[in-house]
Amino acid sequence: MFHLNEAVFVCLKLPRLKVVAFSLDFAENCITQRNKCNPSKSEQNMNPTTEKTELSEAIRKHKQFLFPAVANYYEEPIAIVKGEGEYVWDDQGNRYLDAFGGVLTVSVGHANPKVNKAIIDQVNTISHTSTLYGNKPQGDLAEKLADISPGKLKKSFFTSSGTEADDTAVLAAKLATGRHEVVVLRHSYSGRSATALSSIGHSTWKPIASQVAGVVHAPAPYCYRCPFKLEYPSCDVACADDVEELIRTTTTGEIAAFMAEPILGVGGFITPPKEYFGKVAEITRNHGGLFIADEVQTGWGRTGEKWFGIEHWDVEPDIITSAKGMGNGVPIGWTIATPEVADKFEGLTFSTFGGNPVSMAAGMAVVNFIEEEDLRTNATVVGGYFRERLEELEEKHPVIGDVRGMGLMQAIELVVDRKTKEPNPQAVLKVFEETKKQGVLIGKGGLYGNVIRTGLMLNSTRDNVDELIEALDIGLENIGN
Ligand SMILES: Cc1ncc(COP(=O)(O)O)c(C=O)c1O
Repeated sequence: MFHLNEAVFVCLKLPRLKVVAFSLDFAENCITQRNKCNPSKSEQNMNPTTEKTELSEAIRKHKQFLFPAVANYYEEPIAIVKGEGEYVWDDQGNRYLDAFGGVLTVSVGHANPKVNKAIIDQVNTISHTSTLYGNKPQGDLAEKLADISPGKLKKSFFTSSGTEADDTAVLAAKLATGRHEVVVLRHSYSGRSATALSSIGHSTWKPIASQVAGVVHAPAPYCYRCPFKLEYPSCDVACADDVEELIRTTTTGEIAAFMAEPILGVGGFITPPKEYFGKVAEITRNHGGLFIADEVQTGWGRTGEKWFGIEHWDVEPDIITSAKGMGNGVPIGWTIATPEVADKFEGLTFSTFGGNPVSMAAGMAVVNFIEEEDLRTNATVVGGYFRERLEELEEKHPVIGDVRGMGLMQAIELVVDRKTKEPNPQAVLKVFEETKKQGVLIGKGGLYGNVIRTGLMLNSTRDNVDELIEALDIGLENIGN
């Protein structure tokens, strides 16, 4: 269910053995403790007619027949069989608040009736055409997206994943500029193709050395762990200035593009200072490059008020990419460019499932739902409330080193000590197990695996926030046990 890039238990390379050892101890401990525990909320939520089996059949088959690298969350992984609104159920009958949405992908609720109706109607009409023929849902969605996208972004290309969306953007930038070098950020994530793997700024997700030449990695605007050991705002956003230095020293000086996530998702919701992207966009353009915003996680109102994260920084990208929340769970990838860029994509290009009518119908239903229900405002309001409550937790639990994010994209970074900022991935594992017992699913991220990421749905409520906060509070309280 969860994407590979989200499911790892061990993110810190150096003490890998130590953490694995901890995980095994912890698993053992959980098993011996189990019978002593009071019934958890999830146990209370169990359907009494459901017999609890030793090991879920789905998990057994997952372990036996999938690549071992496709790791699941939790010492005892769960198999999800049903979803409705903000909640999911596992195959043992336990109910959970889904505070991660399958990695910010279920954006408007599980089994959203309006989105499901659009999908079912489309399946019953026609479910595949390929891009060799026009199809109405594709044209309609492309028109809608041209309308809501910022600036001069007007021409779309659809695929089936975020990886393909980013690859399309990089290829389009190279074709439009006639150049080959691309600047990306450390701590970034962009997928699993050769180009994406070469762009990733995370050794955790790089099983092989970069295969694509011409990608250079700028320091991330990671204020909590400033790569220059400076403090905002007296730093004068030195990390942005370093992009100039990077281009001059490690490229020909003539770049095709700068590509970044407005908030670095897998990196642990690293949120740049407000001046960062404006400065970097200027540097990029001075060197003839295009600005690509990877909105795979930050799109569709997730960050509040705006459709896209980059709009908060007053930067007009030449290309935007997205996926995930755009389809509420249906596979979809999207790249939109200015006509100047799109028109220079010469020759032919094709994607079998790109513009698939079912994905397009889902995408349109999601965008309409967000608009009709004013969910961008909801993300600001409920996200603001969530942030306040997280800051209360920060006051209470010294293990929280940083709270960051925007709208309904909020994270906490856990540390051993607030002064040394030593990452605390072990604490994250403990909070994971406890929140699961409380009937709440959360996400993880960060280079060190020490960031708890949340992605409540855009239509979630204050009650959902309270439920999540209560589970986190109990999890954080129990770290020492
Ligand atoms: C910012 C970002 N870009 C690209 C991707 C790749 O998307 P996909 O897994 O759909 O290929 C991801 C996936 O997590 C992502 O977070």
